[in-house]
Amino acid sequence: MTRVFITGDTHSTIDWEKLNTKKFPIQKDLTKEDLVIIAGDFGGVWDGSKSDDYVLDSYDSRNFTTLFVDGNHENFDLLNSYPTEYFHGGKVHRIQDSVYHLMRGQVYDFGGKTFFAFGGARSTDRIYRKEGESWWPQEIPSDEDMAEADANLARVNYKVNYVITHCCPKKALFELSRYGLYEPDKVNTFFDHLIEDEGLSFDKWFFGHYHEDLRVGKWNMLYQTVEEII
Ligand SMILES: [Fe+2]
Repeated sequence: MTRVFITGDTHSTIDWEKLNTKKFPIQKDLTKEDLVIIAGDFGGVWDGSKSDDYVLDSYDSRNFTTLFVDGNHENFDLLNSYPTEYFHGGKVHRIQDSVYHLMRGQVYDFGGKTFFAFGGARSTDRIYRKEGESWWPQEIPSDEDMAEADANLARVNYKVNYVITHCCPKKALFELSRYGLYEPDKVNTFFDHLIEDEGLSFDKWFFGHYHEDLRVGKWNMLYQTVEEII
């Protein structure tokens, strides 16, 4: 039986302590059949240097398979250069033998449950960053990404068990009492469109980005928490 866990942003090694053996001891009992998902700002594909190798090899050596949606702090030029494969019913970039990027708009079957993944978010610290070195315009999903999401969700009648994203709908920010703290962008609005106009239904929605751990109803804002989904 596949077990699936999820946590928030790891930012390369900066925030990856939550997945070490002390803070996430259950990993001793896991196998490569089990999945740990990082809800964006993975940061392990950053500059192709030895420090990337260190991060990726470390995840590859764990007792689980590592999956991540893209956040805003990712090197999209590098990420998109990896081969595209099919994994559990949806497209992924295979980064290492057991490290995969869940691509935007895909629907996967993990452990008999449906998961919709859609990364991307606007960087609020963009003015401090340089295009092509520490910031990439692809952080904001394209019309093609959104069309891919619509096509794949239509196949499952806009009904999934779990949604995994980096940012979240405005509706979630409102219900988590965080509305107004962040300027809404195209990605937030797209998620609201999926719910309100397309009738997307889901059991739980998990996301990172805001660097806070908060849960209200179906909304799960993750940062340091590692949550078992199934
Ligand atoms: Fe982040």
